[in-house]
Amino acid sequence: MDVTDSERLTFEDYTPDHAEEDLVIHADPEVMRFLGGVQHTTVEAMREHLTYIANKYRAYRERGLPYVAWAVREKAGGALVGTGLLKPLPDGDGVDTEHIEVGWHLGRAWWGRGYATELGHALVARGFRTLPVDTLHVVTEIGNVRSEAVAKRLGMTYQGRSDAWYGNTVEHYTLARAAWASR
Ligand SMILES: CC(C)(COP(=O)(O)OP(=O)(O)OC[C@H]1O[C@@H](n2cnc3c(N)ncnc32)[C@H](O)[C@@H]1OP(=O)(O)O)[C@@H](O)C(=O)NCCC(=O)NCCS
Repeated sequence: MDVTDSERLTFEDYTPDHAEEDLVIHADPEVMRFLGGVQHTTVEAMREHLTYIANKYRAYRERGLPYVAWAVREKAGGALVGTGLLKPLPDGDGVDTEHIEVGWHLGRAWWGRGYATELGHALVARGFRTLPVDTLHVVTEIGNVRSEAVAKRLGMTYQGRSDAWYGNTVEHYTLARAAWASR
């Protein structure tokens, strides 16, 4: 079953047309602090990046892999507020592993409203309903306490630090399908 909205948010696939709105979110050093720093600073560069993202996720779907990179909007007003991700964790060489992560980025103006937690619930539901996995993963850079707090609010279990993905040491959280289903 597809998930396209939640109580206060709607979810749509990224397209290059999101570039201008998305730049407001992802050219902010505070948003990118634990995401490798700002990478795209012009609408043109962001459009190119979003073309790459749209093509990548279309290719996944064509292979029967229902991963998502969502552009997330606020229902009230329709503003783009951030990004939701359901995708394989990459190993240190950038190669997809069998471990599936959920992830969230919000523009700074949208922090402190519970939107990331609401988005996280929707991503988890989407993951367990569409993918044959028993576990979903969250990884955060060390020090990204806001993101760790989202994982905790989603009922995830802390597994310690790991060097298995992104070529980086990360804090690792998991949620078991059985725990999700029993709620
Ligand atoms: C990580 C990130 C998404 C977390 O955002 P956030 O606003 O802290 O998290 P939520 O949207 O779940 O909001 C929770 C806060 O809203 C408050 N809140 C207000 N209304 C709420 C509601 N209706 N429901 C739940 N919480 C609500 C909570 O009390 C909490 O406040 P607190 O931070 O003072 O404890 C955000 O910091 C971000 O985008 N960071 C940059 C990108 C990034 O690092 N992403 C993670 C990569 S691993």
